[in-house]
Amino acid sequence: MPALNPSATWSMSDPRPVPLSPTLAVNEALVRKRREGMRVLPLGFGEAGIPIHPALTSELAAAAGRGGYGPVAGSGELREAAAGYWCRRGLPTDPDFLVAGPGSKPLLYALLMAVGGDVAVASPSWVSYAAQASLVGVEPIRIPTVPGEGGVPDPELLAEAATAAKAAGRAIRTVIVTLPDNPTGTLASEDTVRRLCTVAKEHDLLIISDEIYRDLVHDPSRPVPSPARWAPERTVVTTALSKHLAAGGWRIGVARLPDGPCGSALLSSVRGIASEIWSSPPAPMQHAAAFAFGEPPELLERVDASRALHATIVNAVADRFEAAGARVVRPEAGFYTYPDFEPMRENLRAAHGIETGAELTGMLLERHGLGVLPASAFGEPDEALRMRVAPSLMYGENDTQRLAALGADDPTELPWIADSLDRLSEILDDVLVPVCEPVPARAVA
Ligand SMILES: Cc1ncc(COP(=O)(O)O)c(C=O)c1O
Repeated sequence: MPALNPSATWSMSDPRPVPLSPTLAVNEALVRKRREGMRVLPLGFGEAGIPIHPALTSELAAAAGRGGYGPVAGSGELREAAAGYWCRRGLPTDPDFLVAGPGSKPLLYALLMAVGGDVAVASPSWVSYAAQASLVGVEPIRIPTVPGEGGVPDPELLAEAATAAKAAGRAIRTVIVTLPDNPTGTLASEDTVRRLCTVAKEHDLLIISDEIYRDLVHDPSRPVPSPARWAPERTVVTTALSKHLAAGGWRIGVARLPDGPCGSALLSSVRGIASEIWSSPPAPMQHAAAFAFGEPPELLERVDASRALHATIVNAVADRFEAAGARVVRPEAGFYTYPDFEPMRENLRAAHGIETGAELTGMLLERHGLGVLPASAFGEPDEALRMRVAPSLMYGENDTQRLAALGADDPTELPWIADSLDRLSEILDDVLVPVCEPVPARAVA
């Protein structure tokens, strides 16, 4: 473990600097802008934006009296239910190889801490993987994805990176994949995942497959290619209630460890870390999560409606970016899109002096109150003009509006959503005014 602070003269006023996660930081900036009286369009925060289903709140209320800590890895009730959830998705699961925690984020952190060694992550990838690796004191190695298939490092480049690390006396021990992906909203193909599994076997890597958006693939008949199918002995799968059931604030997640020698050793480390950090997942949440993982019809219906709403709105937003001149890979899952303003680079430079993604998103925030995150927050080079757009907070300002959005035949026609979409187009048109090329002097005949 690295020392808290390398300086010998540590004082209370000199802690280790840890920046706020960019997703939370953009949210705070928007709150400030709103307070200053600016109209804001918050498309930066990865929140599902859907009310909690009342059946879930009833279960939570019924368990509110549970004040005991309970088992470190989570209750038998929750682990049985989560095992059933994965079995129904073609991944036979032993409840004894599951660990629940206060969200999947701390579980991912505990896994990285338990395994040690460098971590391969996709570029781009969700902000917290690399940040957590740095906190744990291991190196995040960023590996580009196959074009159009976010979330999974290109297997050939991963193999090269693992070989290069070995030659340099280092070891990549883990690769993290996101299926489907945040930030790109895409789902990698089975072929890519299978090839990744082969490379993981050749280089003895643990695969962590973050499948928190699994139930939000826009075409629900499309299978999610989990590496747990082709490399079950070395794949950990994580999930939570945060996205498909919009219960991020409830802080409950589950990790499915491989059953076998690797899984047993990992289980005992992760349990040890959990016992020292969070003791046990919150007891009332565990009861509600057990109910959720049992997938009663009313919750399945809610997930279906949410998936349809996310698909409609994120595609409508992608259309607006495309109309403004950005290049967009169509979102296939969840509620993110990742437009690329590279085709407008010359315009942006000429009109606004913009050279980097952060300059572009900074201008959108400061001048227009539009909150989005630059590609650099996801590990891409500073000059990339891509940005992650998360439109789910457009669904409404209160639960009445959000429920209306969930139930609408065409949610884009609801006045508050239509208004936000139009405001988005207005901002983009304003920023991306084409700069006229100087007209070449006409040759005189
Ligand atoms: C890819 C990904 N994994 C994990 C998380 C965090 O999940 P949890 O709420 O379970 O900690 C998020 C939340 O934004 C996410 O996008």
